[in-house]
Amino acid sequence: MYYKRPIAENIFYAGVNDRQKEFFENYLPLPEGVAYNSYLIVDEKTALIDTVDISFVDIYFAKIDAILKGRSVDYLIINHIEPDHAGSIGLLRQKYPNIQIVGNAKTFDMLNGYFGINTQLREVKEGDTLPLGKRTLTFYMAPMVHWPEVMISYENQDKILFSADAFGAFGTIDGDYSDACINTDKHWNEMRRYYACIVGKFGLPVQNALKKLAALDIKTICPAHGLVWQKELSKVVNLYDKWSRYEAEEEGVVIAYGSMYGHTQQLTEALAEGIVAGGVKNVVIHNVSKTDTSFILSDIFKYKALIIGSPTYMGSVYPLIEKLLSAIKHRGIKNRLYSCYGSFTWAGTAVKQLSAFAEAMNWELVGNPVENKQAVFAEKYQAAFELGQTMAEKLKSLRN
Ligand code: FEO
Repeated sequence: MYYKRPIAENIFYAGVNDRQKEFFENYLPLPEGVAYNSYLIVDEKTALIDTVDISFVDIYFAKIDAILKGRSVDYLIINHIEPDHAGSIGLLRQKYPNIQIVGNAKTFDMLNGYFGINTQLREVKEGDTLPLGKRTLTFYMAPMVHWPEVMISYENQDKILFSADAFGAFGTIDGDYSDACINTDKHWNEMRRYYACIVGKFGLPVQNALKKLAALDIKTICPAHGLVWQKELSKVVNLYDKWSRYEAEEEGVVIAYGSMYGHTQQLTEALAEGIVAGGVKNVVIHNVSKTDTSFILSDIFKYKALIIGSPTYMGSVYPLIEKLLSAIKHRGIKNRLYSCYGSFTWAGTAVKQLSAFAEAMNWELVGNPVENKQAVFAEKYQAAFELGQTMAEKLKSLRN
């Protein structure tokens, strides 16, 4: 029914796994599922931190009942009111009519809008505290990580940070909630993909939140999704710092291309050969017709260089490339080395538009974009190979 081992004395994991949902926010694939995390502190007062998606309210309430054994929930702390976490608030209020809801002014405006709840509220501001008995929670505002009302809650005794979406990940919790107890391999990519898709636009707000957290002694991070971090704390904080500064994790090139009849794809092969021949080992190739944009975005956050290829399609770029460009632009990804290539039959437009994308993103355009008409012959294959080599040389020049 629930994890018997508490996170700390009388602090319990009360979240649920969602293994059914195909798409997060109804468009981001969930091959590894997702967990909605909620936490329950049992002290002289009892406090829930966030809730879960309403689809799981029956399992969720059963967990709470099993932990509390007849006691009521005194406080609900709303760190983040997006419905994946807030979905069960209305029913929770019916179950515990005397519950006090703790949040900030922005949260309460949304609480009223979503649930019509505007009584038994305890408003908190930056640095305010909530004594529970032995333990006390302190609240810090973290606007736009990832909604305007987001706040984080810090427990003073065991130094636990309840971090809302920050440090969260796609992927269910399998067998144990703690990164200290399970193999975490699958979680790193899903943490980056979560960041890239959900939080990636908000680099500056994340930096502001990290500055606040730097002043706290943190022993455990309890996010609203994914694993509880007890072992790899410095790694997850460093990753967040890197991602929010739009700094790549590794040297490497992402090649994302679309191709209708294989010509742009042939240029892709030449590019990849040129990159590796040039001395860079990390080449990640994504066919946009096969790989969802969210996975490509995640790799763009990971690697320093990006090359995009597209055929000209109806006087523009290939539709799925357009989707990728829009996703990149929307997130304002900075500091990438970039180039492009493509094919056309009678009037080339895609490569011109892809070249202009460098300027739009304020990225360095590396080498000479390759534009191919109709079949790919040796000259253009060689040009693409050389573009790959040029990109590799540029990357190597950045080595320490
Ligand atoms: Fe997990 Fe921003 O909601």
